[in-house]
Amino acid sequence: MATIIEPFRIKSVEPLTFTTRQEREQILKDAKNNLFLVRAAHVLIDLLTDSGTSAMSARQWAGMMTGDESYAGSQSFYRFRDVATGITGFKHIIPTHQGRAAEKILFTLLGGPGKSFVSNTFFDTTRGNIEYSGAEAVDLLTEEGKKPQLIADFKGNMDIAALESFIREKGAENIPLCMMTITNNSGGGQPVSLQNMRETAAICRKYGILFFIDACRFAENAWFIKKREKGYENRSVLDISREIFSLADGCTMSAKKDALVNIGGFLALQDDTLAREAKNLLIITEGFPTYGGLAGRDLEAMAQGLEEVLDEEYLRYRIRSIEYMGEKLTAAGVPIILPTGGHAIYIDARAFLPQIPVEEFPGVALANALYLEGGIRGVEIGSLMFGKYDAKGKHVAPPMELVRLAIPRRVYTQSHIDYVCEVIIEVFGKRTQYSGYRISYEAPLLRHFTAELENPGR
Ligand code: F0G
Repeated sequence: MATIIEPFRIKSVEPLTFTTRQEREQILKDAKNNLFLVRAAHVLIDLLTDSGTSAMSARQWAGMMTGDESYAGSQSFYRFRDVATGITGFKHIIPTHQGRAAEKILFTLLGGPGKSFVSNTFFDTTRGNIEYSGAEAVDLLTEEGKKPQLIADFKGNMDIAALESFIREKGAENIPLCMMTITNNSGGGQPVSLQNMRETAAICRKYGILFFIDACRFAENAWFIKKREKGYENRSVLDISREIFSLADGCTMSAKKDALVNIGGFLALQDDTLAREAKNLLIITEGFPTYGGLAGRDLEAMAQGLEEVLDEEYLRYRIRSIEYMGEKLTAAGVPIILPTGGHAIYIDARAFLPQIPVEEFPGVALANALYLEGGIRGVEIGSLMFGKYDAKGKHVAPPMELVRLAIPRRVYTQSHIDYVCEVIIEVFGKRTQYSGYRISYEAPLLRHFTAELENPGR
Protein backbone atom coordinates (compact mmCIF):
# COMPACT_ATOMS: atom_id res chain seq x y z
CA MET A 1 0.00 0.00 0.00
CA ALA A 2 1.25 3.51 -0.80
CA THR A 3 2.44 5.69 2.10
CA ILE A 4 -0.38 7.60 3.77
CA ILE A 5 0.79 11.16 3.27
CA GLU A 6 0.03 14.44 5.03
CA PRO A 7 -3.20 15.54 3.28
CA PHE A 8 -2.09 19.17 3.05
CA ARG A 9 0.80 21.21 1.72
CA ILE A 10 2.57 23.89 3.66
CA LYS A 11 1.92 27.55 2.97
CA SER A 12 3.32 29.24 6.02
CA VAL A 13 6.30 27.99 8.00
CA GLU A 14 7.82 28.66 11.38
CA PRO A 15 11.56 28.01 11.81
CA LEU A 16 12.77 25.52 14.40
CA THR A 17 15.65 26.49 16.64
CA PHE A 18 18.54 24.10 16.94
CA THR A 19 20.67 23.92 20.07
CA THR A 20 23.72 21.80 20.80
CA ARG A 21 23.80 19.04 23.37
CA GLN A 22 26.12 21.22 25.45
CA GLU A 23 23.68 24.16 25.34
CA ARG A 24 20.82 21.89 26.35
CA GLU A 25 22.79 20.70 29.40
CA GLN A 26 22.98 24.32 30.55
CA ILE A 27 19.36 25.12 29.61
CA LEU A 28 18.06 22.14 31.58
CA LYS A 29 20.24 23.03 34.53
CA ASP A 30 18.93 26.62 34.47
CA ALA A 31 15.38 25.22 34.29
CA LYS A 32 16.07 23.17 37.45
CA ASN A 33 15.66 19.97 35.44
CA ASN A 34 11.96 20.71 34.87
CA LEU A 35 10.90 20.81 31.21
CA PHE A 36 7.93 23.05 32.05
CA LEU A 37 10.51 25.72 32.93
CA VAL A 38 12.35 25.49 29.59
CA ARG A 39 11.56 28.21 27.06
CA ALA A 40 9.75 26.93 23.97
CA ALA A 41 12.42 28.60 21.83
CA HIS A 42 14.92 26.13 23.28
CA VAL A 43 12.84 23.11 22.23
CA LEU A 44 13.32 21.55 18.80
CA ILE A 45 10.25 19.29 18.65
CA ASP A 46 7.60 20.20 21.22
CA LEU A 47 5.38 17.25 22.17
CA LEU A 48 4.30 18.63 25.53
CA THR A 49 0.67 18.68 24.45
CA ASP A 50 -1.68 18.41 21.47
CA SER A 51 -3.85 21.09 23.07
CA GLY A 52 -3.96 24.50 21.41
CA THR A 53 -0.92 23.60 19.32
CA SER A 54 -2.65 22.75 16.02
CA ALA A 55 -1.72 24.45 12.76
CA MET A 56 -4.72 26.30 11.39
CA SER A 57 -5.69 26.03 7.75
CA ALA A 58 -5.75 28.85 5.19
CA ARG A 59 -9.56 28.81 5.51
CA GLN A 60 -9.39 29.16 9.27
CA TRP A 61 -7.04 32.12 8.93
CA ALA A 62 -9.34 33.63 6.33
CA GLY A 63 -12.19 33.19 8.82
CA MET A 64 -10.14 35.08 11.40
CA MET A 65 -10.26 38.10 9.10
CA THR A 66 -14.02 37.94 8.63
CA GLY A 67 -14.82 37.42 12.31
CA ASP A 68 -17.70 39.60 13.49
CA GLU A 69 -16.61 41.27 16.73
CA SER A 70 -20.06 42.49 17.81
CA TYR A 71 -20.67 42.11 21.53
CA ALA A 72 -24.16 40.70 21.05
CA GLY A 73 -25.52 38.61 18.20
CA SER A 74 -22.26 38.26 16.26
CA GLN A 75 -22.64 36.55 12.88
CA SER A 76 -19.62 34.44 13.74
CA PHE A 77 -21.51 33.04 16.73
CA TYR A 78 -24.38 31.92 14.52
CA ARG A 79 -22.01 30.29 12.06
CA PHE A 80 -20.23 28.49 14.90
CA ARG A 81 -23.49 27.49 16.57
CA ASP A 82 -24.91 26.05 13.36
CA VAL A 83 -21.82 23.94 12.73
CA ALA A 84 -21.69 22.71 16.35
CA THR A 85 -25.42 21.90 16.38
CA GLY A 86 -25.07 20.21 13.00
CA ILE A 87 -22.56 17.77 14.47
CA THR A 88 -23.83 17.36 18.02
CA GLY A 89 -27.55 17.93 17.58
CA PHE A 90 -27.63 19.84 20.87
CA LYS A 91 -30.00 22.76 21.11
CA HIS A 92 -27.87 25.10 23.22
CA ILE A 93 -24.28 25.79 22.25
CA ILE A 94 -22.50 27.94 24.80
CA PRO A 95 -19.01 29.13 23.82
CA THR A 96 -16.29 29.23 26.49
CA HIS A 97 -12.63 30.19 26.31
CA GLN A 98 -11.52 26.57 26.73
CA GLY A 99 -12.72 23.17 27.95
CA ARG A 100 -12.22 23.68 31.66
CA ALA A 101 -14.40 26.82 31.60
CA ALA A 102 -17.27 24.68 30.29
CA GLU A 103 -16.54 22.13 33.04
CA LYS A 104 -16.48 24.84 35.68
CA ILE A 105 -19.96 26.04 34.69
CA LEU A 106 -21.42 22.54 34.45
CA PHE A 107 -20.11 21.34 37.80
CA THR A 108 -20.88 24.59 39.59
CA LEU A 109 -24.51 23.98 38.59
CA LEU A 110 -24.66 20.23 39.25
CA GLY A 111 -21.95 19.61 41.86
CA GLY A 112 -21.69 20.19 45.59
CA PRO A 113 -21.01 18.18 48.76
CA GLY A 114 -22.56 14.71 48.89
CA LYS A 115 -22.73 14.36 45.10
CA SER A 116 -20.82 11.80 43.03
CA PHE A 117 -19.90 11.94 39.35
CA VAL A 118 -18.75 8.95 37.33
CA SER A 119 -16.69 8.57 34.19
CA ASN A 120 -14.60 6.08 32.25
CA THR A 121 -11.78 8.42 33.34
CA PHE A 122 -12.14 12.09 34.22
CA PHE A 123 -9.43 14.35 32.84
CA ASP A 124 -7.56 16.23 35.63
CA THR A 125 -9.28 19.59 35.12
CA THR A 126 -12.69 17.90 35.08
CA ARG A 127 -11.90 16.02 38.27
CA GLY A 128 -10.54 19.29 39.70
CA ASN A 129 -13.75 21.17 38.94
CA ILE A 130 -15.88 18.41 40.48
CA GLU A 131 -13.78 18.21 43.63
CA TYR A 132 -13.67 22.01 43.89
CA SER A 133 -17.48 21.97 44.09
CA GLY A 134 -17.23 19.59 47.06
CA ALA A 135 -18.38 16.52 45.13
CA GLU A 136 -16.48 13.30 44.40
CA ALA A 137 -15.25 12.12 40.99
CA VAL A 138 -15.09 8.36 40.38
CA ASP A 139 -13.41 6.61 37.44
CA LEU A 140 -14.82 3.24 36.33
CA LEU A 141 -12.57 2.24 33.46
CA THR A 142 -12.85 -1.27 32.01
CA GLU A 143 -10.18 -3.67 33.32
CA GLU A 144 -8.72 -3.98 29.80
CA GLY A 145 -7.86 -0.29 29.87
CA LYS A 146 -5.63 -0.78 32.90
CA LYS A 147 -3.25 -3.19 31.15
CA PRO A 148 -0.67 -1.15 29.21
CA GLN A 149 0.52 -3.91 26.86
CA LEU A 150 -2.84 -5.59 26.23
CA ILE A 151 -4.02 -5.24 22.65
CA ALA A 152 -7.74 -4.48 22.56
CA ASP A 153 -9.91 -2.27 20.35
CA PHE A 154 -11.68 -0.12 22.93
CA LYS A 155 -9.55 0.27 26.02
CA GLY A 156 -11.32 3.54 26.87
CA ASN A 157 -14.62 1.78 27.64
CA MET A 158 -16.63 2.18 30.82
CA ASP A 159 -16.92 -0.84 33.11
CA ILE A 160 -20.68 -1.23 32.72
CA ALA A 161 -21.15 -3.70 35.60
CA ALA A 162 -19.15 -1.48 37.94
CA LEU A 163 -21.24 1.52 36.85
CA GLU A 164 -24.50 -0.17 37.70
CA SER A 165 -23.31 -1.42 41.07
CA PHE A 166 -21.87 2.02 41.87
CA ILE A 167 -25.24 3.63 41.14
CA ARG A 168 -27.04 1.08 43.36
CA GLU A 169 -24.58 1.63 46.17
CA LYS A 170 -24.54 5.46 46.09
CA GLY A 171 -28.16 5.99 45.11
CA ALA A 172 -29.04 7.51 41.75
CA GLU A 173 -30.34 10.65 43.49
CA ASN A 174 -26.75 11.44 44.55
CA ILE A 175 -25.31 11.07 41.05
CA PRO A 176 -26.30 14.00 38.86
CA LEU A 177 -24.22 13.08 35.84
CA CYS A 178 -22.05 10.46 34.17
CA MET A 179 -19.39 11.57 31.68
CA MET A 180 -17.69 9.64 28.90
CA THR A 181 -14.28 10.99 27.93
CA ILE A 182 -13.59 10.31 24.25
CA THR A 183 -10.88 9.42 23.60
CA ASN A 184 -9.63 8.63 27.09
CA ASN A 185 -6.67 10.99 27.35
CA SER A 186 -5.47 9.87 30.78
CA GLY A 187 -5.55 6.23 29.70
CA GLY A 188 -3.41 6.58 26.58
CA GLY A 189 -5.83 8.23 24.12
CA GLN A 190 -7.80 4.98 23.89
CA PRO A 191 -11.22 5.03 22.21
CA VAL A 192 -14.67 4.11 23.52
CA SER A 193 -17.00 1.96 21.38
CA LEU A 194 -20.46 3.08 20.37
CA GLN A 195 -21.80 -0.11 21.91
CA ASN A 196 -20.29 0.87 25.26
CA MET A 197 -21.65 4.41 24.98
CA ARG A 198 -25.09 3.03 24.14
CA GLU A 199 -25.04 0.72 27.17
CA THR A 200 -23.83 3.50 29.45
CA ALA A 201 -26.49 5.88 28.14
CA ALA A 202 -29.18 3.23 28.71
CA ILE A 203 -28.14 2.74 32.33
CA CYS A 204 -28.08 6.51 32.88
CA ARG A 205 -31.56 6.81 31.39
CA LYS A 206 -32.86 3.95 33.54
CA TYR A 207 -31.69 5.71 36.72
CA GLY A 208 -32.44 9.28 35.63
CA ILE A 209 -28.77 10.33 35.49
CA LEU A 210 -27.57 12.81 32.87
CA PHE A 211 -25.17 11.35 30.30
CA PHE A 212 -22.51 13.74 28.98
CA ILE A 213 -19.58 13.46 26.60
CA ASP A 214 -16.18 15.06 27.17
CA ALA A 215 -15.80 15.56 23.44
CA CYS A 216 -12.25 17.01 23.08
CA ARG A 217 -11.14 14.24 20.73
CA PHE A 218 -14.53 13.08 19.42
CA ALA A 219 -13.45 12.89 15.76
CA GLU A 220 -10.43 10.72 16.55
CA ASN A 221 -12.72 8.46 18.59
CA ALA A 222 -15.25 8.30 15.75
CA TRP A 223 -12.49 7.28 13.35
CA PHE A 224 -11.54 4.35 15.60
CA ILE A 225 -15.20 3.30 15.67
CA LYS A 226 -15.31 3.36 11.88
CA LYS A 227 -12.17 1.24 11.67
CA ARG A 228 -12.81 -1.18 14.53
CA GLU A 229 -16.50 -1.51 15.37
CA LYS A 230 -18.66 -3.91 13.43
CA GLY A 231 -21.37 -2.23 11.38
CA TYR A 232 -19.68 1.16 11.17
CA GLU A 233 -17.11 0.54 8.42
CA ASN A 234 -19.25 2.18 5.76
CA ARG A 235 -20.62 5.02 7.84
CA SER A 236 -19.11 8.49 7.61
CA VAL A 237 -17.26 9.92 10.60
CA LEU A 238 -19.80 12.75 10.69
CA ASP A 239 -22.59 10.20 10.91
CA ILE A 240 -20.83 8.26 13.65
CA SER A 241 -20.21 11.49 15.56
CA ARG A 242 -23.89 12.37 15.31
CA GLU A 243 -24.82 8.96 16.65
CA ILE A 244 -22.44 9.41 19.60
CA PHE A 245 -23.92 12.79 20.55
CA SER A 246 -27.49 11.58 20.02
CA LEU A 247 -27.02 9.31 23.04
CA ALA A 248 -26.10 12.18 25.34
CA ASP A 249 -27.75 15.07 27.15
CA GLY A 250 -24.87 17.41 26.46
CA CYS A 251 -21.11 17.74 26.12
CA THR A 252 -18.12 19.76 27.17
CA MET A 253 -15.57 20.49 24.49
CA SER A 254 -12.03 21.77 24.48
CA ALA A 255 -11.81 23.09 20.93
CA LYS A 256 -8.02 23.22 21.40
CA LYS A 257 -7.95 19.58 20.34
CA ASP A 258 -10.36 18.33 17.67
CA ALA A 259 -11.65 21.76 16.62
CA LEU A 260 -8.11 22.54 15.42
CA VAL A 261 -7.82 25.95 17.08
CA ASN A 262 -5.34 27.54 19.45
CA ILE A 263 -7.99 28.64 21.95
CA GLY A 264 -11.70 27.92 22.44
CA GLY A 265 -14.27 25.53 23.79
CA PHE A 266 -17.97 25.10 24.43
CA LEU A 267 -20.65 23.60 26.60
CA ALA A 268 -23.57 22.04 24.72
CA LEU A 269 -26.86 21.24 26.40
CA GLN A 270 -30.25 19.91 25.49
CA ASP A 271 -32.18 20.99 28.55
CA ASP A 272 -33.63 24.53 28.45
CA THR A 273 -33.56 25.15 32.20
CA LEU A 274 -29.99 23.98 32.64
CA ALA A 275 -28.97 26.03 29.59
CA ARG A 276 -30.56 29.15 31.03
CA GLU A 277 -28.68 28.70 34.31
CA ALA A 278 -25.44 27.98 32.45
CA LYS A 279 -25.79 31.13 30.36
CA ASN A 280 -26.38 33.20 33.48
CA LEU A 281 -23.20 31.82 34.99
CA LEU A 282 -21.38 32.33 31.70
CA ILE A 283 -22.25 36.02 31.72
CA ILE A 284 -20.57 36.62 35.06
CA THR A 285 -17.53 34.44 34.40
CA GLU A 286 -16.82 34.23 30.65
CA GLY A 287 -18.91 36.73 28.70
CA PHE A 288 -22.16 37.27 26.86
CA PRO A 289 -23.59 34.02 25.42
CA THR A 290 -22.81 34.93 21.81
CA TYR A 291 -19.06 35.15 22.44
CA GLY A 292 -18.38 33.48 25.81
CA GLY A 293 -14.80 34.53 26.49
CA LEU A 294 -13.70 34.44 22.85
CA ALA A 295 -13.30 36.90 20.03
CA GLY A 296 -15.64 36.63 17.02
CA ARG A 297 -12.65 35.52 14.94
CA ASP A 298 -12.04 32.59 17.31
CA LEU A 299 -15.63 31.44 16.75
CA GLU A 300 -15.04 31.51 12.99
CA ALA A 301 -11.86 29.45 13.36
CA MET A 302 -13.68 26.92 15.57
CA ALA A 303 -16.57 26.57 13.12
CA GLN A 304 -14.15 25.93 10.27
CA GLY A 305 -11.98 23.59 12.37
CA LEU A 306 -14.98 21.48 13.39
CA GLU A 307 -15.74 20.93 9.72
CA GLU A 308 -12.15 20.16 8.76
CA VAL A 309 -11.54 17.65 11.53
CA LEU A 310 -14.25 15.40 10.09
CA ASP A 311 -12.39 15.12 6.80
CA GLU A 312 -11.60 11.40 6.60
CA GLU A 313 -8.36 11.88 4.66
CA TYR A 314 -7.18 14.01 7.55
CA LEU A 315 -8.24 11.44 10.17
CA ARG A 316 -6.68 8.56 8.24
CA TYR A 317 -3.36 10.43 8.21
CA ARG A 318 -3.72 11.60 11.82
CA ILE A 319 -4.30 8.18 13.34
CA ARG A 320 -1.82 6.51 10.99
CA SER A 321 0.94 8.95 11.98
CA ILE A 322 0.59 7.93 15.64
CA GLU A 323 0.41 4.25 14.72
CA TYR A 324 3.51 4.62 12.48
CA MET A 325 5.45 6.06 15.38
CA GLY A 326 4.25 3.24 17.65
CA GLU A 327 5.31 0.59 15.13
CA LYS A 328 8.83 2.00 14.84
CA LEU A 329 9.29 2.16 18.59
CA THR A 330 7.80 -1.27 19.23
CA ALA A 331 10.05 -2.82 16.57
CA ALA A 332 13.05 -1.39 18.46
CA GLY A 333 11.78 -2.87 21.74
CA VAL A 334 10.76 0.44 23.33
CA PRO A 335 7.96 -0.23 25.86
CA ILE A 336 4.86 1.86 25.04
CA ILE A 337 1.15 1.66 25.78
CA LEU A 338 -0.47 -0.51 23.12
CA PRO A 339 -2.31 -0.26 20.86
CA THR A 340 -1.39 3.36 20.10
CA GLY A 341 -4.23 5.78 20.74
CA GLY A 342 -5.42 8.86 18.91
CA HIS A 343 -3.18 11.73 19.87
CA ALA A 344 -0.04 10.59 21.65
CA ILE A 345 2.54 7.93 22.35
CA TYR A 346 2.89 6.95 25.99
CA ILE A 347 6.26 5.43 26.90
CA ASP A 348 6.35 3.13 29.93
CA ALA A 349 9.21 4.79 31.79
CA ARG A 350 9.34 2.17 34.54
CA ALA A 351 9.99 -0.58 31.99
CA PHE A 352 12.36 1.70 30.04
CA LEU A 353 14.49 2.67 33.07
CA PRO A 354 14.02 -0.20 35.55
CA GLN A 355 17.16 0.83 37.50
CA ILE A 356 15.44 4.03 38.69
CA PRO A 357 13.05 3.54 41.63
CA VAL A 358 9.69 5.32 41.40
CA GLU A 359 10.61 7.74 44.18
CA GLU A 360 13.45 8.95 41.94
CA PHE A 361 11.10 9.74 39.05
CA PRO A 362 11.93 7.46 36.09
CA GLY A 363 9.51 9.47 33.92
CA VAL A 364 11.38 12.70 34.63
CA ALA A 365 14.69 10.95 33.90
CA LEU A 366 13.37 9.71 30.56
CA ALA A 367 11.74 12.99 29.53
CA ASN A 368 14.92 14.88 30.41
CA ALA A 369 17.07 12.38 28.50
CA LEU A 370 14.95 12.92 25.37
CA TYR A 371 15.46 16.65 25.73
CA LEU A 372 19.20 16.39 26.31
CA GLU A 373 19.79 13.94 23.49
CA GLY A 374 17.49 15.44 20.89
CA GLY A 375 15.79 18.66 22.02
CA ILE A 376 12.43 16.85 22.28
CA ARG A 377 9.97 17.90 24.96
CA GLY A 378 7.45 15.39 26.31
CA VAL A 379 5.68 15.34 29.64
CA GLU A 380 6.06 13.06 32.63
CA ILE A 381 2.79 11.50 33.77
CA GLY A 382 3.89 9.59 36.82
CA SER A 383 5.26 10.11 40.30
CA LEU A 384 6.11 13.80 39.86
CA MET A 385 2.65 14.66 38.50
CA PHE A 386 0.53 12.29 40.59
CA GLY A 387 2.74 11.03 43.43
CA LYS A 388 1.52 11.63 46.97
CA TYR A 389 2.95 11.36 50.48
CA ASP A 390 1.44 9.10 53.12
CA ALA A 391 1.05 10.09 56.80
CA LYS A 392 4.69 9.20 57.44
CA GLY A 393 5.89 11.31 54.52
CA LYS A 394 6.67 8.26 52.40
CA HIS A 395 6.23 8.55 48.63
CA VAL A 396 3.13 6.84 47.22
CA ALA A 397 3.48 6.23 43.48
CA PRO A 398 0.61 6.26 40.96
CA PRO A 399 -0.04 2.97 39.06
CA MET A 400 2.10 3.91 36.07
CA GLU A 401 5.20 5.96 35.27
CA LEU A 402 4.68 7.33 31.77
CA VAL A 403 6.14 9.89 29.41
CA ARG A 404 3.55 11.26 27.02
CA LEU A 405 4.62 12.49 23.61
CA ALA A 406 1.51 14.27 22.34
CA ILE A 407 1.45 15.04 18.65
CA PRO A 408 0.16 18.50 17.67
CA ARG A 409 -2.29 18.36 14.76
CA ARG A 410 -0.98 19.15 11.25
CA VAL A 411 2.28 20.54 12.66
CA TYR A 412 5.08 18.01 12.24
CA THR A 413 5.90 15.97 9.14
CA GLN A 414 6.92 12.34 8.85
CA SER A 415 10.62 13.26 8.96
CA HIS A 416 10.10 15.09 12.25
CA ILE A 417 8.47 11.94 13.59
CA ASP A 418 11.30 9.78 12.20
CA TYR A 419 13.76 12.02 14.00
CA VAL A 420 11.82 11.70 17.28
CA CYS A 421 11.85 7.90 16.94
CA GLU A 422 15.59 7.90 16.25
CA VAL A 423 16.26 9.92 19.40
CA ILE A 424 14.04 7.67 21.55
CA ILE A 425 15.74 4.56 20.16
CA GLU A 426 19.17 6.08 20.78
CA VAL A 427 18.24 6.86 24.39
CA PHE A 428 16.87 3.32 24.71
CA GLY A 429 20.24 1.96 23.57
CA LYS A 430 21.97 3.89 26.35
CA ARG A 431 19.26 3.33 28.94
CA THR A 432 21.51 1.83 31.62
CA GLN A 433 23.47 5.06 31.97
CA TYR A 434 20.59 7.26 33.20
CA SER A 435 19.96 7.93 36.86
CA GLY A 436 17.20 9.30 39.04
CA TYR A 437 16.22 12.71 40.37
CA ARG A 438 15.23 14.20 43.70
CA ILE A 439 13.06 17.23 44.41
CA SER A 440 14.70 20.32 45.87
CA TYR A 441 11.56 22.48 45.76
CA GLU A 442 7.87 21.61 45.40
CA ALA A 443 4.63 23.57 45.61
CA PRO A 444 1.81 22.15 47.76
CA LEU A 445 -0.50 21.65 44.72
CA LEU A 446 0.22 20.63 41.10
CA ARG A 447 3.90 20.44 41.92
CA HIS A 448 5.00 19.17 38.49
CA PHE A 449 4.56 22.61 36.91
CA THR A 450 7.07 24.40 39.14
CA ALA A 451 9.12 21.70 40.89
CA GLU A 452 12.89 22.08 40.98
CA LEU A 453 14.91 18.88 40.73
CA GLU A 454 18.45 17.64 41.12
CA ASN A 455 20.13 14.75 39.33
CA PRO A 456 22.91 13.68 41.71
CA GLY A 457 24.17 11.04 39.30
CA ARG A 458 24.78 13.27 36.30
N1 F0G B 1 -10.83 17.05 28.85
C1 F0G B 1 -9.79 16.36 28.30
C2 F0G B 1 -9.99 14.91 27.95
C3 F0G B 1 -8.57 17.01 28.07
O1 F0G B 1 -7.56 16.31 27.52
C4 F0G B 1 -8.44 18.38 28.41
C5 F0G B 1 -7.16 19.07 28.20
C6 F0G B 1 -9.54 19.05 28.95
C7 F0G B 1 -10.71 18.35 29.16
C8 F0G B 1 -9.47 20.50 29.36
O2 F0G B 1 -9.49 21.32 28.25
O3 F0G B 1 -7.29 22.53 28.34
O4 F0G B 1 -9.22 23.39 26.97
O5 F0G B 1 -9.30 23.52 29.43
N2 F0G B 1 -6.07 18.47 27.97
C9 F0G B 1 -4.77 19.08 27.69
C10 F0G B 1 -3.72 18.02 27.55
C11 F0G B 1 -4.39 20.18 28.62
O6 F0G B 1 -2.52 18.37 27.44
O7 F0G B 1 -4.05 16.84 27.49
P1 F0G B 1 -8.78 22.77 28.25
